[in-house]
Amino acid sequence: MPHLVLLLFLGLGGLLPAASAADEQFVFDGFKGANLSLDGMATVTPDGLLMLTNGTSQLKGHAFYPAPLRFHGAPDGTAAAMESFSTAFVIGIIGAFEDLSSHGMAFVVAKSTNFTSALPGQFMGLVSSATNGNATNHLFAVEFDTILNSEFDDMSGNHVGIDVDGLNSLDADNAGYYDDATFRNMSLVSRKPMQVWVDFDGRTMQVNVTMAPLEAARRRPRRPLLSTTVNLSSVIDDGTAYVGFSSATGILFCRHYVLGWSFRMNGAAPPLNVSSLPTLPVTAPRPRSRALEIVLPIASAALVFAAAAAVFAFLRRRRMYAEVREDWEASFGPHRFSYKDLLHATDGFSDKRLLGIGGFGRVYRGVLASKTEVAVKKVAHGSRQGMREFVAEVVSIGRLRHRNLVQLLGYCRRKGELLLVYDYMPNGSLDRYLYDRSRTALSWGQRFRIIKGVASGLLYLHEDWEKVVVHRDIKASNVLLDKEMNARLGDFGLARLYDHGTDPHTTHVVGTMGYMAPELGHTGKASKASDVFSFGAFMLEVACGRKPVVQDERDNRLVLVDWVLDRWRAGCVTDTVDPRLQGDFLEREASLVLRLGLLCSHPLPGARPAMRQIVQYLDGDAPLPELSPTYQGFNMLSLMQDQGFDPYIMSFPMSSTGISTISDLSGGR
Ligand SMILES: Nc1ncnc2c1ncn2[C@@H]1O[C@H](COP(=O)(O)OP(=O)(O)OP(=O)(O)O)[C@@H](O)[C@H]1O
Ligand SMILES: *[C@@H]1O[C@H](CO)[C@@H](O)[C@H](O)[C@H]1NC(C)=O
Ligand SMILES: *[C@@H]1O[C@H](CO)[C@@H](O)[C@H](O)[C@H]1NC(C)=O
Ligand SMILES: *[C@@H]1O[C@H](CO)[C@@H](O)[C@H](O)[C@H]1NC(C)=O
Ligand SMILES: *[C@@H]1O[C@H](CO)[C@@H](O)[C@H](O)[C@H]1NC(C)=O
Ligand SMILES: *[C@@H]1O[C@H](CO)[C@@H](O)[C@H](O)[C@H]1NC(C)=O
Ligand SMILES: *[C@@H]1O[C@H](CO)[C@@H](O)[C@H](O)[C@H]1NC(C)=O
Ligand SMILES: *[C@@H]1O[C@H](CO)[C@@H](O)[C@H](O)[C@H]1NC(C)=O
Ligand SMILES: *[C@@H]1O[C@H](CO)[C@@H](O)[C@H](O)[C@H]1NC(C)=O
Repeated sequence: MPHLVLLLFLGLGGLLPAASAADEQFVFDGFKGANLSLDGMATVTPDGLLMLTNGTSQLKGHAFYPAPLRFHGAPDGTAAAMESFSTAFVIGIIGAFEDLSSHGMAFVVAKSTNFTSALPGQFMGLVSSATNGNATNHLFAVEFDTILNSEFDDMSGNHVGIDVDGLNSLDADNAGYYDDATFRNMSLVSRKPMQVWVDFDGRTMQVNVTMAPLEAARRRPRRPLLSTTVNLSSVIDDGTAYVGFSSATGILFCRHYVLGWSFRMNGAAPPLNVSSLPTLPVTAPRPRSRALEIVLPIASAALVFAAAAAVFAFLRRRRMYAEVREDWEASFGPHRFSYKDLLHATDGFSDKRLLGIGGFGRVYRGVLASKTEVAVKKVAHGSRQGMREFVAEVVSIGRLRHRNLVQLLGYCRRKGELLLVYDYMPNGSLDRYLYDRSRTALSWGQRFRIIKGVASGLLYLHEDWEKVVVHRDIKASNVLLDKEMNARLGDFGLARLYDHGTDPHTTHVVGTMGYMAPELGHTGKASKASDVFSFGAFMLEVACGRKPVVQDERDNRLVLVDWVLDRWRAGCVTDTVDPRLQGDFLEREASLVLRLGLLCSHPLPGARPAMRQIVQYLDGDAPLPELSPTYQGFNMLSLMQDQGFDPYIMSFPMSSTGISTISDLSGGR
């Protein structure tokens, strides 16, 4: 009995100043002077709109009612004690285009208003890839999602979903409403205000979501768009939660607004006064300056002269900052950097800022006006053809986010040149740690973590993103280390540049010798399996501290796979581990990595494991299968020679460019 009393006391007297459930209600017909707790980009505009995102790319915005609300009376979370609630709000999404926008917004009921670890973009400022779906999020949301993300099993690029703890919706449908029995769809990105009602019945745990275009005369549709049951008492485990909104931008210009909001515990949400809501801004095209057209005709000779001088200076300046821009690129919005900004960021691409020279071009360190450090890669490109597809691809790749990938921030185009802007990786590339004798050797623990990191980045590219991205150029120099020494895979998708706009009759193989799967010699087609082959070579390289193909002082060709294979047959595979570790490594892990490296290097693509299995083997979640007996007689060097590769001859042009083509090969012979 004393326990019960204590619990009741804590529940009612509570630590938080939660309002008593029974009468809590509020109405905001516009947010002028409203007391909300805002974070990120969220602000209230002078005319009373709650603007969750302000158009800056890749940022978040949240707005919450400042006090937590009590959702169930008893702190033990029993279903019977769960309160009902009802809310109505009006939202509007203004993108740069009427049919395209970046990401959406959500109504949120959450235990905490701290969303610092959540990501923008497709994560809508609610979760991150690490926390998506985790029950510790204590999050209920109704999402208005404008982009199809297959990683969350989204149904379309214009849907409403009911979410618990993550973005994989319990129930979802295309945005729209029922006009009696007929469904009428609505476009979330139409720039028109939309009214939404969310009703929750605490007894039956039923939640209904209804929406309709905002029109003063329109009655609320009788049939809800979504209706499902959600056990909110386990989400709101200690009885109180905050209510509000979350939104985030991706790479396209977009603003998310809330015009009005009402809420009521245990009763119907008070109706909003539609005629007193603020109005959404109209997006008008920017006014064009007509100064030159007016000044020139009326100017005196002297003025003409002065103008000519000014024009000359302007043109000179313009040539210096000249870029290539085409109409279709406008749709990529702020993802495009101006050349001027990049020029300033990199000190005019000064040699002092040069980070390194790779197969695709030079890489410079830059500091943007916002003080963000970036790496700018200058890629020379010859053909205009294929550029459109390539830039579209760069933009779609910019949406890839994973803790083991180098984030692509944007691009800029000039004549014959493409500039790619990446997150700056202060610790540079992995090959320097492996081969630079002046640095202390990486410990086994670091190496194993790097291998696991790259595997998880590659798994994301192969299987977890909306379309398969084949990397095509996995190698130690494309693995960069961030400030916590996490491995991040760079250059993904870039190898495609060499596929576009080239003569379809010659097969170009992109890759680096020793990392290239033997089947590429005749098919020339990169695949997930050929990436796995490269990853195998990479694992052996990291474990052994040797390049996949080396030539010793006495001109012997040594193919790393063959050597490891030879030691494995002799029953002492861990003899090949980098001598710089001086035996300080975990036998079990090293043997796993080396044997897995061999398995991935299997000459038959079909016999190589998939990245998902590789990750399971590395995590110890599945036992590594024994290497097959047919593997015993094979020798990578002779196999590659049979396929038309000669790793020995090839290693020369390769080491300087990193890029190889089949025509190089015939030329080299
Ligand atoms: N995001 C980055 N942050 C810090 N340094 C970088 C970054 N990207 C590249 N670098 C540095 O620039 C060098 C050249 O990079 P790049 O990726 O162009 O060449 P690569 O990987 O050696 O060859 P390839 O272009 O064939 O893949 C790298 O070795 C690395 O040290
Ligand atoms: C948008 O919000 C961010 C974060 O508060 C701020 O840094 C940026 O200047 C804002 N941009 C505009 C155009 O207001
Ligand atoms: C806003 O609401 C919070 C929580 O109810 C309260 O502590 C704070 O004083 C309020 N601020 C203003 C300016 O009214
Ligand atoms: C928010 O959460 C992060 C971790 O996710 C933590 O580091 C930070 O201190 C928290 N902030 C507040 C104000 O509680
Ligand atoms: C969920 O999050 C908690 C705390 O952040 C963590 O300990 C746990 O491992 C996570 N669970 C899963 C399945 O990721
Ligand atoms: C409704 O959906 C149909 C078919 O998907 C589409 O053709 C139409 O443009 C949509 N209407 C609106 C207003 O989005
Ligand atoms: C949800 O909608 C159904 C069908 O209109 C209705 O019977 C039910 O009472 C509604 N539930 C809530 C919680 O509003
Ligand atoms: C809801 O969840 C709570 C706590 O997890 C549990 O005790 C209760 O039985 C659940 N109610 C229903 C209706 O499933
Ligand atoms: C709605 O707002 C208008 C304009 O602010 C006002 O004249 C009207 O009285 C309001 N209606 C109600 C029912 O509050």
